[in-house]
Amino acid sequence: MLPVLVGVVMELQDCALPLLTEIIPTDQEDVAFRDLDVAILVGSMPRKEGMERKDLLKANVRIFKSQGEALEKYAKKSVKVLVVGNPANTNCLIAAKSAPSIPKKNFSCLTRLDHNRARSQVAVRCGVPATHVRNVIIWGNHSSTQYPDVHHCVVGVAGTELPCFNAVKDDAWLKEDFITTVQQRGAAVIKARKLSSAMSAAKAICDHLRDVWNGTPEGDFISMGVYSSGNSYGVPEDLIYSFPVRVKDKDWKIVDGLAISEFSRSKIMATAEELVEERDEALAFLAA
Ligand code: LMR
Repeated sequence: MLPVLVGVVMELQDCALPLLTEIIPTDQEDVAFRDLDVAILVGSMPRKEGMERKDLLKANVRIFKSQGEALEKYAKKSVKVLVVGNPANTNCLIAAKSAPSIPKKNFSCLTRLDHNRARSQVAVRCGVPATHVRNVIIWGNHSSTQYPDVHHCVVGVAGTELPCFNAVKDDAWLKEDFITTVQQRGAAVIKARKLSSAMSAAKAICDHLRDVWNGTPEGDFISMGVYSSGNSYGVPEDLIYSFPVRVKDKDWKIVDGLAISEFSRSKIMATAEELVEERDEALAFLAA
C-alpha cells in the first residue's frame, strides 16, 4: 500500500490545510505511533457487499491487537484513540486491552456517523436543517443492532424547540422505518457505491475529535462508543458501547439518569448482547 500512500500525501498537500505542518508516510509502527497525542485507527479488513461485520472479526482482532501494542510501546500515555475500522466497538476494546498502561477512558469508537445519520433523517422529515436536531442517541454497537433513540431529541421548528415526537408527528415512522434506516445505512451506502462510506465517515471523525478535544456545546450530548464499567443503564461492563456523552476538559462522562421506556430498554439490551458475543468471540480468537 505504500505507493497508494504517496497519493494520499499528495491529496493532503493539495488540501492546503491550515493546521497541517508535516506528513510522515510510513508502514513502520515505531514511526507511526511514536509520541502520538491522537490516533485515528481507520484501517481494518474492509467489509464487502453482502458480508456481515462479524465475518471480519477474526482478521481484525489481529490488526487491533498489534496497533494496541504499538500504542502501549510508543504513544504518549495521554493519547486519545479513536477507532473507526469495523467492527469498530470490538476492535476498540481489543486495542484498549492491548495497551494496559493507557487509561481505557482514552479509547473511543466512532458512532458519530450513525448519530449524524439519525439527525439528518429527522431533519429531512421535519424540513429543517440538520443543525436544528439535537440530542439524538445512538446506543450500543456500530452495527445493524444499534438503537437510534429520539426520546430525548429536540427539533428546532420555526424558532421553537419541540420534542422530536411532536415535531415529526409520526410515531410509527420514528419507531420503525427511522430506526431500520439508520441501522442499515452503512449497508445501503455500500450497496449503492460498492464501497463503504467515505465522505460522511470523514465528517463524523472530524465532529467526534473536535468534541473530544474542545468539549461538547453546553446542553448538548453526542454519541460515542466508550468503555462501559457496568454502571450505566444496565449495560454490562467491559464493552465499548455507544452512550450519550458530554465532554468537558478532554474528559467524557456518560449522561446518566435519562428516562428509558420499556421499548428503548429492550433495544439497549439487544445491542449489548451482540457486543458481549463479539467480545467473547474476539477474546477466544486472541487466546487461540
Ligand atoms: C458505515 O456505517 O458506513 C460503515 O461502517 C459500514 C461498513 O461496514 O464499512
